[in-house]
Amino acid sequence: VSLTPEPIRWRDGALELLDQRCLPHAEQWLRCERVEDVAEAIETLAVRGAPAIGIAAAYGLALAARGPSADAGAVIDAARRLQATRPTAVNLAWALEEGRRALAEGRDLLELACALHEAQREADRALSSYGAALFAAGDRVLTHCNAGVLATGGSGTALGVIGAAFAAGRVAHVWACETRPLLQGARLTAWELQRAGIPFALVTDSSAGLLMARGLVDRIVVGADRIAANGDVANKVGTYTLAVLAARHGIGFYVAAPLSTVDAATATGDDIPLERRSADEVLAFAGERVAPAGAGAENWAFDVTPAALVHGIVTEAGVLEPPLDRAIARTRGGALRSAPA
Ligand code: MRU
Repeated sequence: VSLTPEPIRWRDGALELLDQRCLPHAEQWLRCERVEDVAEAIETLAVRGAPAIGIAAAYGLALAARGPSADAGAVIDAARRLQATRPTAVNLAWALEEGRRALAEGRDLLELACALHEAQREADRALSSYGAALFAAGDRVLTHCNAGVLATGGSGTALGVIGAAFAAGRVAHVWACETRPLLQGARLTAWELQRAGIPFALVTDSSAGLLMARGLVDRIVVGADRIAANGDVANKVGTYTLAVLAARHGIGFYVAAPLSTVDAATATGDDIPLERRSADEVLAFAGERVAPAGAGAENWAFDVTPAALVHGIVTEAGVLEPPLDRAIARTRGGALRSAPA
């Protein structure tokens, strides 16, 4: 059972976010009363993780619909502003599209945001249960970035799976990659694992190959920001490296994500827009400049793992198995449904 507080809440007419920029040192709530506050919170990673930014954006539309100049135009402008914050996670575009549709149908946008939030909680519960069944007793599992409560507003995707597998007695140890440059693993995943009482060790991202070569990793589970129709997966940069290493060492590599992360309109990973962030994030460590003055840097926030390296996608509708393009196509028809183990 996770003891991490849900990071997204609606209180007294505004959106409140557990400010992930301050974690793990301070539990500070950021109050967003205007759409611009929500947009800035997403851009600066006060709220982050694909499902969480989609839900936050949906609440942002609710703010626009309630604001002093509230009309359909204000909501459409808000959707445009929120969409411009981050390009890779399709959950953001998906939630905004749900918002536009609700607006056209005259539905209440706060009710929609609450419904999307609740649907995410349910999806996380279901996929965690499906994913836990993939584990064997005593598994040592490696994960990257943060795909937990903080990243979804529910119980988490990859970390939800790991939590459920731990509760079932199937996880002995977690390796958490620190996740340079913004340290979502070191700051957020470590915080969540600690609160859940799951044994773990942080490792530098570049240790993953050594751990696998030494036989210390039984399984890898990561989240996703967008899954193309052919099963290619965009996730936090470094995920691709882990998948290649997993193939080299014969280790199961799984992606856990709700179906709202699957983008049937994007054919392959080549078509997924990958966010590039400020070079300053790489040139510094924990806010302190480390590279010499005048040094340049590139900062790709995500990479793409080809479908061929993915052993399964754990969703709320069950585990999609290769060939992933066919499994994804079937899921969209609602064909894939089996009882959680
Ligand atoms: O840049 P971030 O921290 O938003 O990146 C997050 C990730 O890459 C997660 O793995 C992904 O969004 C899945 S979250 C359930």
